[in-house]
Amino acid sequence: MCGIVGYIGKRQAKDLLIEGLHRLEYRGYDSAGVALVGGNKLKRVRALGKVGELEKKTEGMTLEATLGIAHTRWATHGKPSEKNAHPHADCAGAISIVHNGIIENYTELKDELTKKGHRFSSETDTEVVAHLIEEHTKKSKDIEEAFARALKDLRGTYGIAMVAVAEPERLYVARMGSPLLIGVGKDEYFVASDVSAILAHTKKVVYLEDGERAVITRDGYVVRSGQAVQKKTVSDIEWSEKEAKRGGYPHFMLKEIFDQPESFADALRGRLLPDEGSARLGGLRAVAKRLEGIRRIVIVSCGTSYHAGLVGEYMLEEYAGIPVEVEYASEFRYRKPLLDKYTAVLALSQSGETADTLAAIREAKNKGALALGIVNVVGSTIARETDAGVYNHAGPEVSVASTKAFTSQLAVLSLLTLYLGRKRGMSLVTGQRIARELLKLPRLMERIFEQSGTIKKLAKKYANRKNYLYLGRKYNFPIAFEGALKVKEIAYVSAQGYPTGEMKHGPIALIDREALALFIMPVDSVYEKSVSGLEEIKARGGTVLAITTEGNTALEKKADAVIYIPKTLEMLTPILSVIPLQLFAYHMSVALGYEVDRPRNLAKSVTVE
Ligand code: G6P
Repeated sequence: MCGIVGYIGKRQAKDLLIEGLHRLEYRGYDSAGVALVGGNKLKRVRALGKVGELEKKTEGMTLEATLGIAHTRWATHGKPSEKNAHPHADCAGAISIVHNGIIENYTELKDELTKKGHRFSSETDTEVVAHLIEEHTKKSKDIEEAFARALKDLRGTYGIAMVAVAEPERLYVARMGSPLLIGVGKDEYFVASDVSAILAHTKKVVYLEDGERAVITRDGYVVRSGQAVQKKTVSDIEWSEKEAKRGGYPHFMLKEIFDQPESFADALRGRLLPDEGSARLGGLRAVAKRLEGIRRIVIVSCGTSYHAGLVGEYMLEEYAGIPVEVEYASEFRYRKPLLDKYTAVLALSQSGETADTLAAIREAKNKGALALGIVNVVGSTIARETDAGVYNHAGPEVSVASTKAFTSQLAVLSLLTLYLGRKRGMSLVTGQRIARELLKLPRLMERIFEQSGTIKKLAKKYANRKNYLYLGRKYNFPIAFEGALKVKEIAYVSAQGYPTGEMKHGPIALIDREALALFIMPVDSVYEKSVSGLEEIKARGGTVLAITTEGNTALEKKADAVIYIPKTLEMLTPILSVIPLQLFAYHMSVALGYEVDRPRNLAKSVTVE
C-alpha cells in the first residue's frame, strides 16, 4: 500500500528519501517518486516499478537539496504508470505533494478546477489536491493558509506531505484517516506513513491525529487542529532496526515463520500466570470493571486476522462462556450491527491501520460498545482509538503474507480466554492445564520445523495441481481458511478453505485426479468425522495430504502424504497445525518462482477501503 517519506534537515535529502522508500517496499506498491527542493528549484522524478528504477533515474541528479518528499504508490485511481505516480504538482510546478488515502470528492473538485483553467496530467485523485492548493494561493499568497483552506475542501481520507519551491525551509503535512508521523532527529525531521521507514535515523516520533496538520522547519514543528496549536508528546519506539531485517533467511516470510516460537513466547511473557491458571493483561486494567458486565463479544477483522478471530470464537465460547461473533470488518461497518454497552467489539489487526477494521471500531464506539484491540504495531491508529487492548509484541512483520502475527494473535486470544474464563467459572485446574500447555508450545513449534525438508518436497511435488481444497473441523476449520489464503496470496493458485462437514454440499464436485485435498485432522474430538471425509475424497480419485498428530501413523495407509504436529490440547492445535501450511505455501511460491514477500496486487497494510 502507498508509503510516504519526507525529510527536512542538513543532510542531502535524496538518498535518505530513497533509503526510506526501500524500507517501505514490503508494503506492496507499483511505482515510486521523489520531489526535492533546493537552489530555488523543485525537481520531481518518478518511475514505474520498483524503487530501484527510481534510484537509477535519480543517479545523475546534481541538485543540492536538504528538503524533500517521496512516495510509493499502490494504484487506486488510474492505472500504475509514471504519470500517475506521486509526487503530483500544480500547473506552475511550484508545489509538490504526496498522498495516501482517497479523496472522495475529487471529481467535483476536478471539474471546478478545470473550469478555472487548471490542466491535469494524471488520472489520480491526488493531483486535485495540488491544484486546489494552487487555487487557494491565488487568493491568499500565504502557502500555509492555502494548504489549510484546501484541506477544508477535501472529503475522504488522507495522509499528505507537501513542499513548495518558494519555501525551502518548510515541510507541510496533514492527516485525516491515513497514518502519518513526524520523526524527531537532531536538527532534522522526518515524515513517514510507517515508522519502519525512518527507524534507522530516529526512534522518537510524534503521531498526528485525524484533523491535524503541521508545518515542520529545521528548528521544530507546529501542529495545529483548526487554528489551535496542539501540544504533542514525543513517543519512543522500541523496535530496533535489526528486528526489521531478514537475518540470513532468503525471504522475510521464512524468517517470520521461524520467528514464531519466539514471537509466541513474547506474547505470553509477563502475562501468563500458570499457577493461578490465568493471565494478567495490563492493557485491559482500565476497563476491567466494565469487562465484568460484558455479555457478548463481536470480533472484527480482515484477512488472516479474521481467521484468528474465528479460532478465538471457539476458544472464548467453550472456555469463557461468552457468546462471540466474528465479522469481516468491511461488512460490519456498513450494516446495522446491534450493539449496546454490554457488548465488547474486539478489533484484531496486525498493522493497526486497516481502514475497514478502524471504521468498524469507530462505528462500535458510536453505538456505545466497549472498543478493544489486539494489535501488533504500537501506537498505530487502532491501538490509539480503542478504549483498551493488548499488544502482540511480535516485532515487525514485513512479509505481506502474515504468519507470526497470526500465531501471536492466537496466543493473546488464549490469554484473553484464561483472563475472562477464570472470572466466569473456569476451574483452576482447567486454567492451569491450558496455561501450562501454552508454555510448551514454542518448543512444540520447533518440532514441526524438523519436517521442513519433507514439507518442501511435498510443496514442489504438488505445486501444479488445478485445485486445492483445504478442509478442517471445529478448531481447525479456520486453519483450512488460513491455509487456502496463504497459497492464494503467494502461489497464485485456486484454493478453497471449507469446514470438512460442508464438503458434501458442493466442494466435493471439484475432486478429480488434478485436485489436492489438504486435511487438517489432529487426533481430537472430531477426528473420526474427518476420517470419513478423507475416505470420501479418496473414493473419488482425489489426492490427500493430511496433517495429523504425531504417532497417528495409521493415517499413512489412507492418505497420500502425512505431516505430523505434536500433541497438545484441542483448543491449541490451530497454533501448531497452521505452521506446516505456512511452510507449504512458502515453498510452493518459491518452487513456482514468485516474489514471496511482495505478492502481486496485495499490500501489507490496507489503509484504503
Ligand atoms: C492485508 C494483508 C493481510 C492481512 C490483512 C489484515 O490484506 O495482506 O496479510 O491479514 O490485510 O491486516 P491487519 O493489519 O488488520 O491484520
